[in-house]
Amino acid sequence: MQKTRAVIVGVTGRMGQALLRTAPEFADLAITGAVASAHSPSLGRDAGEPAGRRLGIAVTADLPATLGTADVVVDFSQPQAALAHLSACRAAGKPLLIGTTGFAPQLSEAELEAASRDIALLVAPNTSLGVTLLAELVRIAARALPPQFDIEILEKHHRMKSDAPSGTALALARSAAEGRNLPAGEATAAVGASRTGPRRQGEIGFAVMRGGDVVGEHEVWFAGLGERLSLSHQATDRAIFARGALRAALWLARQPAGRYTMRDILFKNQ
Ligand SMILES: NC(=O)c1ccc[n+]([C@@H]2O[C@H](COP(=O)([O-])OP(=O)(O)OC[C@H]3O[C@@H](n4cnc5c(N)ncnc54)[C@H](OP(=O)(O)O)[C@@H]3O)[C@@H](O)[C@H]2O)c1
Repeated sequence: MQKTRAVIVGVTGRMGQALLRTAPEFADLAITGAVASAHSPSLGRDAGEPAGRRLGIAVTADLPATLGTADVVVDFSQPQAALAHLSACRAAGKPLLIGTTGFAPQLSEAELEAASRDIALLVAPNTSLGVTLLAELVRIAARALPPQFDIEILEKHHRMKSDAPSGTALALARSAAEGRNLPAGEATAAVGASRTGPRRQGEIGFAVMRGGDVVGEHEVWFAGLGERLSLSHQATDRAIFARGALRAALWLARQPAGRYTMRDILFKNQ
């Protein structure tokens, strides 16, 4: 069996290491490239070193040089580098899964759309299969319940997380907006707004908590008069994001150029 060859960008980070630990669960996957920043203290070292096992792949900052033999690229790195990574994959014609979050405005929707005409592209602010299903359930609930049900999204993450609200919270808001047939801008209109006075009907609100080592918790609240529905997901192990990302990468490597989402992995992966 020919294995699917994947390059991991951001390999020295929390997610990069989780991807390396999880990769052996996929018999048809081989990690063939390990990329970090040009300032990484790990350059030239074996990518498996932090986890205490040799992989025989040296960490490099030269993404284009790793792409020749790659079938797919999995990027969990830094928002500032997102455009450069997209351009390198597009130039080499390699499918790309972007797990990095918080890259707007460095990388615009127009650039993503343009790239997806040349390569298979999957942008996933959350690669957990459970969260992917949560987004579907939120879309259904938002469509079914009348607009008098207020929608609030609560998210909790570890103290090191730099973006807020989380990419997942924003994606859940977009699902809710789609369910209600609201214009895309309405999903995130309340981001950063301080709340005083009565709640505006139709607004999708956000609440953010940061602390300790919380891997990621999201709760979507549909609050009516006299009843409340709450849909939630708790991640207790970063491995769920890695497992979902690698499953998606295996799928993406076989797709023609186009724009894909984690929803495709759940519902078109039969
Ligand atoms: N989609 C999801 O399900 C999901 C889940 C969790 C996290 N995330 C997102 O994934 C990203 C990474 O998270 P993390 O917790 O793993 O962060 P992290 O621990 O800070 O790791 C960041 C990684 O990116 C590398 N890096 C930095 N600048 C780079 C550049 N210019 N080129 C190539 N590599 C570069 C770093 O390498 P050096 O420092 O060694 O250079 C490091 O390996 C974040 O955006 C986070 O929000 C997404």
